[in-house]
Amino acid sequence: ARAWRGVVAEYRDRLPVTEEAPVVTLHEGGTPLVPANRVSELTGCEVYLKVEGLNPTGSFKDRGMTMAITKAAEEGAKAVICASTGNTAASAAAYAVRAGMTCAVLIPDGKIAMGKLAQALVHGARPLQVQGNFDDCLELASKLSVDYPVALVNSVNPYRLQGQKTAAFEVVDALGDAPDVHCLPVGNAGNITAYWMGYTEYASAGAAGGTPRMFGFQSSGSSPIVNGEPVSQPRTIATAIRIGNPASWSHAERARDESGGRIDAVTDRQILTTYRMLAAQEGVFVELASAASVAGLMQAVQQGRVEPGSRVVCTVTGNGLKDPDWALSGAPRATRIPVDAHAAAGALGLD
Ligand code: F0G
Repeated sequence: ARAWRGVVAEYRDRLPVTEEAPVVTLHEGGTPLVPANRVSELTGCEVYLKVEGLNPTGSFKDRGMTMAITKAAEEGAKAVICASTGNTAASAAAYAVRAGMTCAVLIPDGKIAMGKLAQALVHGARPLQVQGNFDDCLELASKLSVDYPVALVNSVNPYRLQGQKTAAFEVVDALGDAPDVHCLPVGNAGNITAYWMGYTEYASAGAAGGTPRMFGFQSSGSSPIVNGEPVSQPRTIATAIRIGNPASWSHAERARDESGGRIDAVTDRQILTTYRMLAAQEGVFVELASAASVAGLMQAVQQGRVEPGSRVVCTVTGNGLKDPDWALSGAPRATRIPVDAHAAAGALGLD
C-alpha cells in the first residue's frame, strides 16, 4: 500500500485542476469509515461513521480548502478571506500558510469554539471578530472580495464543493457501492450539496450502482431550511451550524428532493445526548454539530423514515478536541492522590 496523497492527487481525474496547477495540500481526505456498532444496535441499521475530524485541521473543510487554495494560487492570489463559525477559518489559515498567502477570517461575536480560534491564530491568520452572526460575516467577506484583492474561500467558491465531493467517492470506494442513506449536519448547506454532487457523479460514471437518500439535519434553533424561511437570530449550542440563511439553500433542497431524502431539525438536547453517546459508546469524539447527523438518523428511524436493515453512513464533520468545554462540563473531576499505589488502588476501587 502506498501513502495517501491528498484528495487532489487521489481524485485528480474527477476534479477541475490542470496538470500545471501548484497543488496546495496537507494530504487531507482518506478518512476512516468506521462501523458504528452501538448506533447500529440502536437503529437496527448497518451504520458507519465517516470520521472527518481526522483531517489535517480536524474537519471536512480541508477537502474543499485544498481545491480553493490551489486555484487561488494558480490565479496568483496573495491573500484569502473567509467568514466562519471556526472550522473554515482554521482550515483556510493552515492552507494559506502552505501557499505563502495571508489569510483574514471574519468570525461571529463570541460564538466560536476555543480550539478553532486557537488554530486560526497559531497559523497566523488575521481574525476580525464581527459584531454580528455568521450570515453577517459572509455578506461582509463577499463584499470585501469584490472590492479588494482578496480571494473568497467560503463554500460559495465553487472549487470548495468540488473538493468536498471527494468524501462521497471515498464512501463508495470503501463500501463497494453507495449506501442506502447518507446523513449529515447542515449549516451553510455546502457539504450536503457536495456529497450529492459526488454521489451522482460516481453513479453516472458507473462507479456506483445508485445514489443514497440524503438526510440533512439542522439544529431546531437554527433551522431555516426546515422552516422555509431565514432565521434572523439563529440559536444553538452547536456553534458550527449556527446559521440562519444558508448560502447553498436551494442546492441542498435539490439534493433532498432528487435523492428522495429529507432535511429536518434536531434539538440541542438530542445533539448533546448523541455527542456524549458517540464518545462514551463508540469511542469517537466529535464536535457538537457533528452529532446532529447521528441524532437525526435515530430520529428518522423512530419516525419510520429509514427502514431497519438499511445501510447508512453518517458524516461526523469535526473533531471533538476543537471544543472541549462541552466534554468537561458535567464530567467528574480527576481524583487527586499522592504518588502511592495503595492510594491509586483505593481511589479506583480496586481493593
Ligand atoms: N459540521 C461542522 C463541524 C462545521 O464546521 C460545519 C460548517 C458544518 C457541519 C455544516 O456544513 O456549512 O457545509 O452545511 N462550518 C462552517 C465554518 C460554516 O465556518 O466552519 P455546511
